[in-house]
Amino acid sequence: MMGDKLTTMIEAEKIHQKVVELGAKLGEDLNFEKPPIFICVLKGASFFFADLIREYPHDCKVDFIGCSSYGSGTESTGEVKITYDLSLSIKDENIVVVEDIVDSGYTLEFLNKFLQTRKPKSITTVTLLSKPEALKADVKVDHSCFDIGNEFVVGYGLDFNNCYRNHPDIAVLTNTDLN
Ligand code: IMP
Ligand code: MG
Repeated sequence: MMGDKLTTMIEAEKIHQKVVELGAKLGEDLNFEKPPIFICVLKGASFFFADLIREYPHDCKVDFIGCSSYGSGTESTGEVKITYDLSLSIKDENIVVVEDIVDSGYTLEFLNKFLQTRKPKSITTVTLLSKPEALKADVKVDHSCFDIGNEFVVGYGLDFNNCYRNHPDIAVLTNTDLN
């Protein structure tokens, strides 16, 4: 968009290092008798998800769920809806929910409740980014790669109006026309 400015916050190489560490940690921590199902929360987590599961050293299954909480702005509406459903049954399965960012936490809270109704054996939650100061919902995140402030960030899957997902670094988005 005209006037948009991206300021690098976390470089691709640093993201990569964290993803490698987290993949190895999940390999140690998740001790299941059968392969867990890693669930990608579309679309934002897709880049993180693809990298993370390749660092996970054991067998796993993958599935996708679409969830939307934002209109086109940068503030959470608190309203969450499922836009794309899983294709696998998660009943009695160990699932690992992979999110891009936990901001107010409403999306993850809604998603957890929604997934619980399908009676999985366990739910582990993983996020690339957390905004601890913005957290309003009562949610437990098991693994978070980076805590950030209240800045609006894009890149590595994160978007503004569906743009900037393919930017390799995580960057703060500001608009010089609006400020
Ligand atoms: P929450 O429901 O407020 O926790 O928001 C979670 C969702 O809002 C994420 O899955 C993102 O899609 C989006 N979101 C929150 N903060 C940002 C940001 O800084 N950049 C891009 N998307 C964000
Ligand atoms: Mg989004």
